[in-house]
Amino acid sequence: MRVLVLHGPNLNLLGNREPEVYGNLTLEEINQRLVAWGEELGVEVECFQSNHEGELIERLHRGDADAVVFNPGAFTHYSYALRDAVAALSAPVVEVHLSNLYAREEFRHRSVIAPVAVGQISGFGAESYRLGLLAVVSLLAQRRGERR
Ligand code: DQA
Repeated sequence: MRVLVLHGPNLNLLGNREPEVYGNLTLEEINQRLVAWGEELGVEVECFQSNHEGELIERLHRGDADAVVFNPGAFTHYSYALRDAVAALSAPVVEVHLSNLYAREEFRHRSVIAPVAVGQISGFGAESYRLGLLAVVSLLAQRRGERR
């Protein structure tokens, strides 16, 4: 089983970017943890970050993952193109956010991705990614008729 973890714009700055909102871990540190968590759960994790909408869309189009954990960054709030790319995928997508979108500015309260995702996890810092990974792994197991 392969899980793609997709990070959107500005997430390459994690560690330095508004640490009071997004925490102190760098993206590299989060990715290393994700790979290790994946090993514990018996799935292969691949991480990809881009600041470009088209690159994120093209990575989704490859369709080579069994499930996707996706932090679309600010694209969450307005990218219909990414929403359509998620809707076109047969693999399940779980949307994750480090910060709690609903405790922040009003423009962050709306996600155009959430209606086409399986679900959304928001507000647990780097732990949101671990919870997102757990969610897709348990979903894949359910779909295979197993229980975890
Ligand atoms: C974010 C929340 C978005 O509103 C913001 O634009 C980000 C990060 C989060 O992980 O909390 O870039 O997706």
